[in-house]
Amino acid sequence: MTINTNESDIIVKSPGRINLIGEHIDYNGGHVLPAAIDRKVTMWFRKKDNSLCRVNSEDEGAFTFDIKKPLQISDTHWENYVLGVVDGIVKARPGKLGGFDCVISSELPIGAGISSSAALECGVAKGLNDLFDLGLSNLELIEISRMAEHNFVGTKCGVMDQFAVTMGKRKKLLLLNCETLDYKLIDVEFAPYKILLLNTNVSHNLASSEYNTRREECEQALSVIQKDHPQYSFLADVPESVIETYKEKLSGKVYQRALFVSRENARTLKAAELIQNGDIKGFGKLMYQTHEGLSKNYEVSCPELDFLVDLAKDLPQVVGSRMMGGGFGGCTINLVEEGFVNEFMDLASKAYKEKFDINLTSILVATSNGVETINSES
Ligand code: GLA
Repeated sequence: MTINTNESDIIVKSPGRINLIGEHIDYNGGHVLPAAIDRKVTMWFRKKDNSLCRVNSEDEGAFTFDIKKPLQISDTHWENYVLGVVDGIVKARPGKLGGFDCVISSELPIGAGISSSAALECGVAKGLNDLFDLGLSNLELIEISRMAEHNFVGTKCGVMDQFAVTMGKRKKLLLLNCETLDYKLIDVEFAPYKILLLNTNVSHNLASSEYNTRREECEQALSVIQKDHPQYSFLADVPESVIETYKEKLSGKVYQRALFVSRENARTLKAAELIQNGDIKGFGKLMYQTHEGLSKNYEVSCPELDFLVDLAKDLPQVVGSRMMGGGFGGCTINLVEEGFVNEFMDLASKAYKEKFDINLTSILVATSNGVETINSES
């Protein structure tokens, strides 16, 4: 898309994210280990002298709305990521937004589990904050973006994606405590391994409804446990030994979910330690365990993801592999010996095509800074 820019424009680059470990535990108050990546959404913003707003996405098309009128949820799914954020900003800073143009161009595949949605939300939030000089803090922008997803899109997501997209740093992982939002930056030192994503190119439509169901199941587990143990405010805080005493009191599925959450939180803390000690093989083993838990206990995987992880397991050059993100499709994240990356991509693509008749795509990722405004290009 060709865009004419001038000096008053704001250009925002908003990254996708990976998550090394700590899946489905952000909304349970657990620890996660994500990073912003070098694949981004680029957005151009320009003020207008009336109240009309026009948002034009290279891939999805354009829509308009009037900033002076109450914003409604749209029937066109993707528009809600933008509208939800604008609505949140209007509420946080009443009367401060005017009309604007926004043009969006994305390198992030949709439905791949690398947070193209959070990249869009946080990019809009950052762009409008800077364009209208609103002075919202990063934490406010994160919260506005997260609530856009709850209120306009309908997914009751946790905070991980928006936090990683906003706070990410080049060559760092974020060890984030989702209960307190305290975080620590950890060096990414994986040599001789590379981080390779394999995109199943399936996105089963269960994703959003099952996501919300998992959340409810975890809330159910917590409310039963809290009757005896009021000291636990989040499910991730409950030790596995305590969860085990609820085998008979929780329904089979709810018990399995709780077990996964407690184990995954412990695994994430252990993983951060192993990475800091340079034990990448030890960390890789935890990735495989996480996949097993997500597939069997939490039931958010699918045959395509399981197939790719099983394939990786038999290859000593792939030290870790698991599904990443919400599940039901999207990518696996793999730690692969540098010299084996091409061979792995080839053999995984062939085997996947043979099994499912779907083309696999791969993305070699590096970590990068979170959302940022750059000078306008001319
Ligand atoms: C999605 C959500 C996140 C998180 C992950 C699973 O990406 O947006 O908040 O729950 O799934 O870890």
